[in-house]
Amino acid sequence: MSSMISWDEDYQNRMNPKLMTTLLREAVPVLGYVNWQVIDVDEGYAKTVLPLNYESTNQHGTHQAALIALAADYTGGLALASLIRGIPITGVHPNSTDNPIALWLVSIDMNYKVPSAGDLTVTAQIPASRVDLIRRRYEEGKIVVERVEIQLEGDDGQIAVGTMTYFLRQSKKLRPQSSESKLNAIFSHSIKASARLIAALRGMEIARKNPLYHDPYSSVAASVHGKLLAERFTKNLPQLQPMIAARTKDIDDLIEQWKTLSQVVFVGVGFDFRPFRLFKNRNIRVFEIDLPHMLVEREKIIASFDNLPLVDRIPVELNLELDDLSVQLLESEFKVNQETLFILEGASMYFDEASNCKILRSIQNLMGNLHSKLWVDIVDNIIVERRTKQNDIIKFLEGMDKLGEPFIFGLDNPHDFFQDLGYRVCKSTPSNTYLSDSSDQTYKFYNFFQLQKQE
Ligand SMILES: C[S@@+](CC[C@H](N)C(=O)[O-])C[C@H]1O[C@@H](n2cnc3c(N)ncnc32)[C@H](O)[C@@H]1O
Repeated sequence: MSSMISWDEDYQNRMNPKLMTTLLREAVPVLGYVNWQVIDVDEGYAKTVLPLNYESTNQHGTHQAALIALAADYTGGLALASLIRGIPITGVHPNSTDNPIALWLVSIDMNYKVPSAGDLTVTAQIPASRVDLIRRRYEEGKIVVERVEIQLEGDDGQIAVGTMTYFLRQSKKLRPQSSESKLNAIFSHSIKASARLIAALRGMEIARKNPLYHDPYSSVAASVHGKLLAERFTKNLPQLQPMIAARTKDIDDLIEQWKTLSQVVFVGVGFDFRPFRLFKNRNIRVFEIDLPHMLVEREKIIASFDNLPLVDRIPVELNLELDDLSVQLLESEFKVNQETLFILEGASMYFDEASNCKILRSIQNLMGNLHSKLWVDIVDNIIVERRTKQNDIIKFLEGMDKLGEPFIFGLDNPHDFFQDLGYRVCKSTPSNTYLSDSSDQTYKFYNFFQLQKQE
């Protein structure tokens, strides 16, 4: 993979100083604020400058110590990432692949020798003796934990020397490989972040002029983190909030109009507060499926609210990619013969085809009542495979790429796909149905489906 392209090509497209300065300043705004810049990058090598300026200094007119560490952090990270040819860094490069580099700093050891009273040059060089090992471990999908020495020099010589330790791995390998495997902290963080982001976007609707629904909980559940992510995402992707609002409304309406509904299964419940909004005086049992750490977090958030309505909720811990949801639901008092709504919301696009088929088959097995339904949102394959020349959509995809949340699953022909899995489509709704300004073409490629088991 990474060895397929030349360093020259990689330098031009991925690692050149101008590009890396721009991308890192976009990803980490404080780097732009202090005017930090990348001067030179080679394989296993990076040189950057932290200028002496008002923004980067303290009350003595010398560089503030943590900003020196900041410059060292991104210099070492660049030197290390330069070794993995052709692969984008998560959260930094626009990314349309499903396996970018996950790169995190795990520790800093900084030895400050003298105050820094001039422009600071920061260099990192990975020793040649380490390069093959780092590349081999990375390509084999193993964890790379690497200590990188950083030299920090001013006009009069050495200012500091640091040792930064980084964690580097293929991002795909962060996902749990078996039900027993210990959860990676970065994976756990990114899953939580994405559920908080959705809660924040859903919660934003209440402040709009004619909100599609009334949700006083989601923006609180999203926390500061979710709201910050929503601010970043909506800058690049103005369509995202209306899409979330539309799907929320579509499901809310289905639940409100369905008077004989007796069970609802949230498949990947995240921080969805719909049970508290819609099931107040209804005799409905709710099953909330998610990864164990997400359910723990969910309960923490729920406990922080006063006076939430009492709802009959049963948490069901499982990994949808590895476990069979029908087995766990049946062990959790799920009744196959009752009228049930299964909600697979904001999830299908992040699972591969095999996982989606597995989930849909398991759900189909649980539809013992012919009125039971599955609600699922699907993006068009044109979006996933980037087969478009339409400007609206190209801009949307560029926004997605920048934010590192690429869709990996979409459908060209949803009706056939669902039919092969034993479903019939009873309703399909394009996401622009509820939007007053729906001229943007992107909305047409995101649709909501209501499915029933074929008789
Ligand atoms: C983007 S969030 C959407 C949450 C919720 N459906 C909503 O619309 O607010 C996706 C959810 O799927 C869950 N999820 C992702 N991978 C999973 C897996 N392998 N097993 C179980 N849940 C998973 C995440 O933890 C997260 O809560």
